Amino acid sequence: MCGIVGYTGVDAAAELLVAGLKRLEYRGYDSAGLALVEAPCAAGAADAAGAADARDGRAALDIIRCAGKVAGLEDELATPGRCTVARLATCGIGHTRWATHGRPTVENAHPHVSCDGRIAVVHNGIIENFAELRASLEERGHVFKSETDTEVFAHLIEEAYQGAPNSAGGPAKTAGDLMAAVREACTHVVGAYGLAAVCADEPGVIAVARKDSPIVVGRGERGSYVASDVITLIDATRDVVVLEDGQFARLSPEGITYTDAQGRAIEPAVTHVDWDVDTAEKGGYPDFMMKEICEQPRVVRDTLVGRLASSGELDIDELGLTPEELSLVDRVYVIACGTSYHAGLIAKNLIEGWARIPCAVEAASEFRYRNPIITPSTLVVAVSQSGETADTLAAIRDARIKGAKVFGITNVVGSPVARESDGVIYTKANKEIAVASTKSFTGQVVSLTLLALLLAQTKGKLTTGQIRMLFRELGDTAEQIQHILDTQRAAVHEAALACREARSALFVGRGMGSAISCEGALKLKEVSYLHAEAYAAGEMKHGPIALIERGFPVIAVATKSPTYDKTVSNLKECEARGACIIAVATEGDEEITRVADHVIYVPPVRDALSPITATVPLQLLAREVAVLRGCDVDQPRNLAKSVTVE
Ligand code: F6R
Repeated sequence: MCGIVGYTGVDAAAELLVAGLKRLEYRGYDSAGLALVEAPCAAGAADAAGAADARDGRAALDIIRCAGKVAGLEDELATPGRCTVARLATCGIGHTRWATHGRPTVENAHPHVSCDGRIAVVHNGIIENFAELRASLEERGHVFKSETDTEVFAHLIEEAYQGAPNSAGGPAKTAGDLMAAVREACTHVVGAYGLAAVCADEPGVIAVARKDSPIVVGRGERGSYVASDVITLIDATRDVVVLEDGQFARLSPEGITYTDAQGRAIEPAVTHVDWDVDTAEKGGYPDFMMKEICEQPRVVRDTLVGRLASSGELDIDELGLTPEELSLVDRVYVIACGTSYHAGLIAKNLIEGWARIPCAVEAASEFRYRNPIITPSTLVVAVSQSGETADTLAAIRDARIKGAKVFGITNVVGSPVARESDGVIYTKANKEIAVASTKSFTGQVVSLTLLALLLAQTKGKLTTGQIRMLFRELGDTAEQIQHILDTQRAAVHEAALACREARSALFVGRGMGSAISCEGALKLKEVSYLHAEAYAAGEMKHGPIALIERGFPVIAVATKSPTYDKTVSNLKECEARGACIIAVATEGDEEITRVADHVIYVPPVRDALSPITATVPLQLLAREVAVLRGCDVDQPRNLAKSVTVE
């Protein structure tokens, strides 16, 4: 949550930073800001707007902030007479915020500035001991201007920069050295941070720190860059350093140097990024959500590449478990949040159905506060698109302490989930920009299907021939998704019109259909702000059916499955009470038209693989309803793409 950018080099920084922040808006968009380090100018000179310059030949910081989205910064920068000098600055940092401490106001927008106005910081993360730090800083005379936890960093760095004794009470070695002052400030802070700081007394320098919050730095032809996501760097460089916890970087126009917490020089590994730039752009689609829904056939194909050896055996060598360890697994927990949790619900059916291993799916935020039964033969599967969800990470750590092997499924190479797990499958979805997960979900379900097949193979529950056949059918879902995208858009539109004015909707299904319904309901509520709830179809008569009145939308996953007839019976009960029924059904199913007002068809596919295809119409439906209701589908209110707070 929250996005950080920084640039120092030969070009004007403001525009670069704003463009970078726009790519990071998926991380939060409550407020935004820039700190630009203006070059020193002669004492008594006037700025381009004619105002007398009071900088006495020293560089100055210009802070530009707005409540709301990054576009507000462009308005500020374009205001006549405003920012005339700042716009020429070649060094600066920027931030787009998802509010944690303090409301989304201009005062709480980053950057935050030291008392003397010479140091500015942007921060992503949470400072857990901020209340005590703030109290002691205030006792020492610091004046706070915001309600944020981040502001303590500005004051701590200021103290160190001015030469206060270090945290151990010893003499300061940080006076006049921004990088050293940032390292010192970090020793006081408990919590998570990705941090960038600038100082008007060291124009051109950006000091960067990382603990439990992603930071990437890179060197391009025209300067040095930092961001919380590589997506902002790929125009400038493909070779980046993903900082590890406890590593620091000092950026200048000439280059980047790295140190550890003690200030010793280090040489971190360089990662080459091969995403195409188009991933970061809409590529002709009206929004990222639509683009990402349409990318799902590719995601299926890419996630499967190289997974089936010519012997017919599955090949997941990144698993981090030997075949012997794998064969001993007698219990699986899938831990995840939100959409990733729903992928887990699907995995439970597959792991129990194929491998006959008991599998529980738990919200990571609950798992870590229980005392789950974990033994050395327990496999914990952590699913996280971003790879940085705080609750999922905490649950991973907990599970490992308790002796479980942890296997991560994530979309982000080098993310904390990948690094902290014993093994990992990457979902190959490429960067997902829309806040609502679509293609990542599909990548997760495909990866979890592979894992279930692997467990079944290891346990000898499926033959090589069966695995080969299922693998082929899994691959076929790519074309089946494409077919849905090509043929069902009009049907989705008609169904969306029926939901447009609704206040609430129910999603129902049985078995796999029930798990798919959960994802359909989440998608609809998050992008269209229409209340939606998922219910196992057979449970309707135990309470929720009381909600049904004329026109109430009931969205049913009614694809051909062993429980199809039962689902249809449940739909008839809803129909009899006036519900407007929208069914996702299997091509060729005429019977469904007798009960459903709208039908969206998907190709026939075995029940175990149905989530990969049947979720797609529900993603399209959620988006279409959101568009009809005038919602911002890519950036729904109150949400952020990666949730790095608990
Ligand atoms: C919904 C959505 C969220 C995420 C959840 C977990 O569309 O995207 O529910 O699934 O915040 O995020 P990750 O998978 O990054 O751990």
